[in-house]
Amino acid sequence: MSVDFREDGAAALEWAARYLERLPELPVLAQVKPGDLSAQLPAAAPEQPESFGDVLRDMDELLLPAFTNWQSPRFFSYFAVTSSEPAILAEMLAAALNQVAIVWRASPASTELELRVADWVRQLLGLPDGWHGHIEDTASTSTLAALIAARHVTGRNAVVCSEHAHSSVEKNARMLGMELRKAPVDEELRMRVDGHDLSDAACVVATVGTTSFASVDPVRELAERAHAAGAWLHVDAAYAGSSWICEEERWSADGVELADSLVVNPHKWLLVPTDCSLIWTARPDEWREAFSLVPEYLRTPDDAYALSEYGPALGRRFRSLKLWAVLRCYGAEGLRAIVREHIRLAGHFADWVGETPGWELVAPQRFSLVVFRREGSDGENEQLLERVNASGEIFINHTKLDGRYVLRLAVGNARTTEDDVRRAWDVLNREATR
Ligand SMILES: Cc1ncc(COP(=O)(O)O)c(C=O)c1O
Repeated sequence: MSVDFREDGAAALEWAARYLERLPELPVLAQVKPGDLSAQLPAAAPEQPESFGDVLRDMDELLLPAFTNWQSPRFFSYFAVTSSEPAILAEMLAAALNQVAIVWRASPASTELELRVADWVRQLLGLPDGWHGHIEDTASTSTLAALIAARHVTGRNAVVCSEHAHSSVEKNARMLGMELRKAPVDEELRMRVDGHDLSDAACVVATVGTTSFASVDPVRELAERAHAAGAWLHVDAAYAGSSWICEEERWSADGVELADSLVVNPHKWLLVPTDCSLIWTARPDEWREAFSLVPEYLRTPDDAYALSEYGPALGRRFRSLKLWAVLRCYGAEGLRAIVREHIRLAGHFADWVGETPGWELVAPQRFSLVVFRREGSDGENEQLLERVNASGEIFINHTKLDGRYVLRLAVGNARTTEDDVRRAWDVLNREATR
């Protein structure tokens, strides 16, 4: 092995620091074609050790052009995210420690810190006392776990969600062999409460902040109907749930206190890099029953708490460390300020769209997402999207509303300033009138 840990470590940190500084100059969307990178990568691993300097050199020369720069302040696609400095450092330490928290004694620190930070965030978001929270890799896995728990508790096999629910609900139902029923939405793209039979539903999934439009399902009514029918209510607030750290955004948490489970992704809007998904349940004992399977070789005399009894994975990495670092180094006030700023910036963009002829807001601005389109055909909007993304100056994406092609701009990177949002608007106007 050819690494000088201190010297190469310093070089890697320097690489990361320089990368973060250079972000404003780098194209946001990778400007390469499929296969460009593969053509340059050796077909087989080296027989002889190479230096870490070689690795860093190839990061610059080979990989850098093929990065879509999620850390760019002008990344406005999907849900824009941030990997903040405290979290980056904590990830390095987590890798150094390599805690694998299969049972309590395998990592008391990872087990207990995870429970504590999940509880810190629970309090910060204004969620009920007594909920049990832990960390899964992604919201997809968190929702998978919720469906498993719901099926275990109810003995039923149907899942009901909105037609705008995230695709992970459908994928999870398919993987579990559960029947999925998609409910229609009202004019504000909220799941309709009436008109679906819940008598055989294991789980109703309500979404706060849908992926396409950030619409908010009527959680209270859905929870009441689900519970009256004996079903589990899971809330997917993977993106928007982080906004509840600000009191003024808690309108969208109405009824969430009635949920049986809730997922919020700190890796979306709480400055933590992928992967980090918080899943809470109001029914921890039944939840645990659904997952607990302790083989002989994992039994311990202390019989202490094991997070692996709360989800699909046995080996669990030390994800709480980066969340802990972020919560401590920003403080709740620091995080609130960033979430508020993103919502304010999205508000500016929505205003510009709304007041400029030739542009149309296609859904109300919710949280930090604006959904809009340029007048003209779907094809013209699609070409516009391709042109703005090809410019490398910004990266946005699209979705469809009632079959119409529409554009999405999501603010969510901690480095994004008003100038960046203004630049996005300028690029869109420039390309639209070209
Ligand atoms: C509402 C919602 N739920 C779930 C997910 C899936 O998240 P993950 O990538 O953590 O599985 C997303 C991703 O954007 C989302 O927007």
